Amino acid sequence: MSQLAAAPLTGKRILLGISAGIAAYKSALLARLLKKAGAEVRVVMTEGAQAFITPLTLQALTGESVRTSLLDPEAEAGMGHIELARWAELVLIAPATADLMARLAHGHADDLLTTLCLATDADCVMAPAMNQAMWGHPATHDNARRLEGYGWRLLGPDSGDQACGDVGAGRMLEPEAIVAGLSTAPEATPTVADDARGLSVTVTAGPTREALDPVRYLSNHSSGKMGYALAAAAAARGARVRLISGPVALATPPGVERIDVTSALEMLEAARQVAGDSDIFIGCAAVADYRAERIAEHKLKKSTGEDTMTLKLVKNPDIIATIAEDAAKSAAAGPRRPYVVGFAAETCDLEAQARDKLERKRLDMIVANDVSQAGLGFGADDNAALLLWRRAASEPARSELPAQRKARLAEAVIDQALRGYRATHFDGTSAGMPPAAPQQDSP
Ligand code: PMT
Repeated sequence: MSQLAAAPLTGKRILLGISAGIAAYKSALLARLLKKAGAEVRVVMTEGAQAFITPLTLQALTGESVRTSLLDPEAEAGMGHIELARWAELVLIAPATADLMARLAHGHADDLLTTLCLATDADCVMAPAMNQAMWGHPATHDNARRLEGYGWRLLGPDSGDQACGDVGAGRMLEPEAIVAGLSTAPEATPTVADDARGLSVTVTAGPTREALDPVRYLSNHSSGKMGYALAAAAAARGARVRLISGPVALATPPGVERIDVTSALEMLEAARQVAGDSDIFIGCAAVADYRAERIAEHKLKKSTGEDTMTLKLVKNPDIIATIAEDAAKSAAAGPRRPYVVGFAAETCDLEAQARDKLERKRLDMIVANDVSQAGLGFGADDNAALLLWRRAASEPARSELPAQRKARLAEAVIDQALRGYRATHFDGTSAGMPPAAPQQDSP
């Protein structure tokens, strides 16, 4: 299968495959647009597609008879299916259903369309269209990746309202966008490595500052590097990313929406505002556990008679635990959302402390880092982590990520968070266990 070049469609021999999705009605407009762009268009429809749109409509629009069956002696007497496969310079399937993708990904040739796809050496493009849960299912993603590996180019899917009433990624691209996509260089098309497309990820990062007076505050050494790396990794996989950031000196990663906050209370408010429409929420911020009970209106004066000073602190709310509690409450209405990932910064008993936080804060997954190790953790460019998941069985799943650049580690964490999200979302379990969490991960 050769790589599709950015080429005009004039005179191009396009085989338009239509499978059984509600978006099939848009294929009529697509055929018309392709013709208008100067292409020669022949149409092949699966049996199911004919329940959504008639061959006659496509025949009228293309001026060519429409093929629907592999075992049609009359049609085979004209242009046989192998000839048709050879005739095509471009095979375009729109809509491509989850079932058709699965069959093509596994080399089936059980109807005319799949047989043609197996027999052709034309450029192959598909516009997936299905329910958002079906598109989000790991099996569909595996199939999509496999198809890309075989040289297929995927245009879309789009995200938004679906015919079934759901909202999310899975809608077929509009015909105009498909035609525009055919004229774009393949390398400009996002791939399913963008497997977080349509998902919304929120990350908290950096320290919080708790004011004591107009010029002083309590804080910690968090630089924001870990949280920013997570935001960048999620954005690179196509997610919509919101980064709730404490005060740090870092540039916002490309494609990330940043919400600046200063104190823990501000971070909580921002987090609660966006968590409801987040699929994954990651609490990487080093939130101050305490704040001053009262912020002095004026700069605190050094007292002349005393060598000590007493500050009264009150506990800050636990942001990640609040988000996890809200998510658990909303779980009655469907799969728990967001999938909540916390961090644990420990200086001793890493696993035991992290397990305790995982359970106590009712998180789905926790990223434990030993911040007593030189060159790792706070402020460093590198980090190492132990990942733990909550689940009903007595022993939580675990995975170790050795010391590496925070950017690499972030990619692995995002990968596991996506797996965990999908597993809880699609197998209906309440625990945060990913489908096949490795016992020992090496990046
Ligand atoms: O920012 P860097 O310099 O790159 O450093 C990265 C890091 C060391 C800060 C990061 O890897 C990390 O460990 N972040 C969590 C720091 C922390 O506050 O850990 P904790 O064990 O105290 O808290 C556990 C979890 O509860 C965390 O998800 C934290 O965000 C959350 N928390 C804590 C207190 C609070 N009031 N609200 C919270 O949401």
